Amino acid sequence: MTGNEIRRKFLEYFEKNGHKVVHSAPLLPANDPTLLFTNAGMNQFKDVFLGNEKRDYVRAASSQKCIRAGGKHNDLDEVGKTARHQTFFEMLGNFSFGDYFKEDAINFAWDFLVNEMKLDVNRLWFTVFEGDGEVPADTEARELWIKAGARPERILPFGRKDNFWQMAETGPCGPNSEINYYLGDEPENPEKNHPKWVNGEGDTTMEIWNLVFMQYNRIETAPGHYKLEPLPAPSVDTGLGLERMTLVMQGVSSNYDTDLLRPIVEFTAELSQG
Ligand code: GLY
Repeated sequence: MTGNEIRRKFLEYFEKNGHKVVHSAPLLPANDPTLLFTNAGMNQFKDVFLGNEKRDYVRAASSQKCIRAGGKHNDLDEVGKTARHQTFFEMLGNFSFGDYFKEDAINFAWDFLVNEMKLDVNRLWFTVFEGDGEVPADTEARELWIKAGARPERILPFGRKDNFWQMAETGPCGPNSEINYYLGDEPENPEKNHPKWVNGEGDTTMEIWNLVFMQYNRIETAPGHYKLEPLPAPSVDTGLGLERMTLVMQGVSSNYDTDLLRPIVEFTAELSQG
């Protein structure tokens, strides 16, 4: 399956499930001094999550062009060290603005990956927020993954760094649940397909999809001091890396070997020889 077909399948799946398909926003965000470049699909909906803007739809899906080369989400330092980072990438996303919440977000993700894309369930791992003094543990997401079909031992808790998402120092945010994919040769072997690789070293297991349960607005109360206020309505923001999903579907071991990026690498190589 080509990268273009994966993008199309994703958007068609969510359109069929009541989502308005919207275009990618420009890479330079309009009217947002908190961001230099667009870093996620949710950027163009920031004011909708905050309740400052209304659209004539409550569910959306997009394939958003993103740059992560600085700021809160900076992939620049990982480029060349891992097989899965670029500074520019496309993020497939589905969004709910006060409409569905955790249960549907989890069921859509499971259905799309397992039933539509036919991914091997043995290769999937899930992470949920473990909780801290400010935000409680997301035991609900854990239960919902089990209900959807995940094995309990495949659901792991992590802290703020991996399982609480915010687009910048301030703005909409919330606990998130990530879907990781084991890329190794022995999915049936628990010594190899091991939890230590999830959010661990190397590319043995790779995050493919992040489901953010948008519940808070992070505001600055004094220089360097922040607090979380509830959003007007619990919402959903997800991000599935198109190049990573293409890597999985094409059975290659690097984003740069997918049909989305390989031609650019080859073209650049030709130019450098000429
Ligand atoms: N907004 C979700 C993500 O960037 O993963």
